[in-house]
Amino acid sequence: MGKWESFFSKDTQLLKSSEIRDLLKLTEGRNVISFAGGLPDPSTFPVEDIKKITNEILESKSSQALQYTATAGVSELREQLVSFSNLRGISNITQNNIFVSVGSQEALYILFNVLVNPGDHVFVEKPTYLTALNVLRTRRPEFHGVPISERGPDLHEMERQLKNLQSEGKKVKLLYIIPTAQNPAGTTMYMEDRKYVMELASKYDFLVVEDDAYGFLVFDGDNPPPLKALDKEGRVIYLGTFSKILSPGLRLGWIVADEEIIREVELFKQNVDLHTPSFNQFIAAEAIRKGVIQNNLPKVKSLYKEKRNQMLSAMDVYFPSNVKRTRPVGGMFVFVWLPGNLNTTQLLQQAMMQGVAYVPGNSFYYDYSGTNTMRINYSFPSKEEINKGIEILGNLIKSKI
Ligand SMILES: Cc1ncc(COP(=O)(O)O)c(C=O)c1O
Repeated sequence: MGKWESFFSKDTQLLKSSEIRDLLKLTEGRNVISFAGGLPDPSTFPVEDIKKITNEILESKSSQALQYTATAGVSELREQLVSFSNLRGISNITQNNIFVSVGSQEALYILFNVLVNPGDHVFVEKPTYLTALNVLRTRRPEFHGVPISERGPDLHEMERQLKNLQSEGKKVKLLYIIPTAQNPAGTTMYMEDRKYVMELASKYDFLVVEDDAYGFLVFDGDNPPPLKALDKEGRVIYLGTFSKILSPGLRLGWIVADEEIIREVELFKQNVDLHTPSFNQFIAAEAIRKGVIQNNLPKVKSLYKEKRNQMLSAMDVYFPSNVKRTRPVGGMFVFVWLPGNLNTTQLLQQAMMQGVAYVPGNSFYYDYSGTNTMRINYSFPSKEEINKGIEILGNLIKSKI
């Protein structure tokens, strides 16, 4: 027990430092190829454009950009986000439907606090984004899982569970879902499945929190519209982020939702941090207005496609054939299922000794199942590292089978 532990609130006990994070810390300063993070390739940052925009803002708008601003965000940015949302097929919205947050992470934190009471029935994908799960856990909901296969979430299974809950007189509050280039699974839902989710949401009357973190990063085939673009009833709360398309260091994300929901989020955020940094918001607004993001996207997508290709071909060569994996059409991750008896948490220590790190997949499951899975990132490592790292990992897996 630490010296000050008895002073900490009960809630902080849910904030246990993740075992994995502690393990991955051991890689710091060592020569380990890391497939563990979720970082963009820094060569995609439009540094010169940001430099120019920053200077212009300081010269012409410093009195606003360096000042406090409205809790929902700088009006210039919200206006730009209305048209930027059109690029994803989201229309019929105004500034009043937009809320700017400190990354989409803060949006998740606020939304789950605003919406979820202890004991509420909440659906998540199995697996799903770890930090969303962690925030949800602090709300103490009753979790229900939708298993993901190479195709995406199994919606028939979800419907089966919804029917069961209904027959027990239980009402579902919300579904948290990442339909496009899912983190960690790398799956992208087909259009028919997207319509199916919306039918279920309407029939069983629940809210959908749609995380579109990678929606602008689909590099293969069609990019189906987000659920928000199919939403006729206002029940989808859409989350976007500048982290993967401009810079994560700016810490900017946004919500598109019904005005009533936006107002509630605004009240909550006033108690958290008053507003998202004005200066960064002006930078993002100009980056959209000048087309910096739109013009940079083809470069980002083609780089990630090359890295994805490198990753998949290395896996074809070095992984045994009874290892299953996704084939992402966008985003930054491949998800891998090893034969059921292999435990990827146990394997990690050995992998790191041999110079490779990944994230064991069970942290992405609300019930910590998925012990034979792993998430592999391809956006950050170089192509040479991808090849070398997958060779090491493949040999290690083969030695265990
Ligand atoms: C699915 C998903 N949602 C949300 C986030 C949070 O990103 P940010 O707070 O940088 O917008 C991430 C980051 O990796 C993510 O993968």
